[in-house]
Amino acid sequence: MKIYVLGAGSIGSLFGALLTKAGHEVTLIGREEHVRAINKEGLRISGVESFTVYPEATTRAPEEPPELLLLTTKSYSTKTALECARYCIGEETWILSVQNGLGNEDLALKYTPNVIGGITTNGAMLVEWGHVKWTGRGITVIGRYPTGSSSFIKKVAGLFTDAGIETEVSENILGWKWAKTIVNSVINALGTILEVKNGYLRDNPYLEGISVEIAREGCEVARQLGIEFEVHPLELLWDTIEKTKENYNSMLQDIRRGRKTEVDYINGKIVEYAKSVGLGAPRNELLWALIKAKEEQSR
Ligand SMILES: NC(=O)c1ccc[n+]([C@@H]2O[C@H](COP(=O)([O-])OP(=O)(O)OC[C@H]3O[C@@H](n4cnc5c(N)ncnc54)[C@H](OP(=O)(O)O)[C@@H]3O)[C@@H](O)[C@H]2O)c1
Repeated sequence: MKIYVLGAGSIGSLFGALLTKAGHEVTLIGREEHVRAINKEGLRISGVESFTVYPEATTRAPEEPPELLLLTTKSYSTKTALECARYCIGEETWILSVQNGLGNEDLALKYTPNVIGGITTNGAMLVEWGHVKWTGRGITVIGRYPTGSSSFIKKVAGLFTDAGIETEVSENILGWKWAKTIVNSVINALGTILEVKNGYLRDNPYLEGISVEIAREGCEVARQLGIEFEVHPLELLWDTIEKTKENYNSMLQDIRRGRKTEVDYINGKIVEYAKSVGLGAPRNELLWALIKAKEEQSR
């Protein structure tokens, strides 16, 4: 399959590398230093598996439309990235987002009705330009956005799985996106404010009740919007904390590097959606403001 990865950083390069290894025609679209390193020495993957591949790499999307455009920028870059690549989104092109947070697929829908939503629990980290560490194997769930499926989506799930990215299809990807966002609204925000590993949220007796309250607030907003869950966010929360107990969450890593975070698309979106149905989401609003303050402090 002809696949472009728009925003090839950590997770995009990992997926792109695995798909290249499986024989797909992959083009990575990323930043200049990463592209230069890949074109010189190849793309090196270490961690869960170690190998080097030689995909096409460029800073600008080629003209010819791909069958699949994998969207892997941070959420705050989605709008600009899609606008920069709009000329390559053809009638047959499907856009797949595996980004965290809410709103990315809605932006993609402005360019094509062929939008696939996704979540992934794989972990990846850019070690240096041209080198990405696969920090943890996970699962990926994809489905037509906001709901439904199609034969193309089943084909994508099959070829991802064959490439080593274990992928399931869901008819209710919106439910999965909300569940993961609610999990991130707790782990990322609390873990960043307290500057702790994910496991601490379970180990500290004061934090269990707070975590449940934040998650319940997100669930109530989702309920008002008519979102149904395949897995209850609280179940997913404790499961995620257990599986990632030794990790520092990505929001904290962004703060430590003086980078912008995705808080506007996680806690911020929950607040926005709450307002749209006449609710308040004071816990998420407070967390959002505290993270914004930390962003200011770390710049
Ligand atoms: N990493 C993980 O383990 C993981 C797991 C699950 C989900 N996710 C989600 O996946 C998304 C991506 O995360 P990530 O960790 O892979 O982020 P990342 O390492 O920052 O990768 C994104 C890359 O896209 C680049 N980019 C942005 N706009 C671009 C454009 N217009 N053209 C070309 N390149 C562009 C960024 O460059 P600049 O930094 O210069 O903007 C960056 O190198 C996020 O929503 C994240 O929450 C990540």
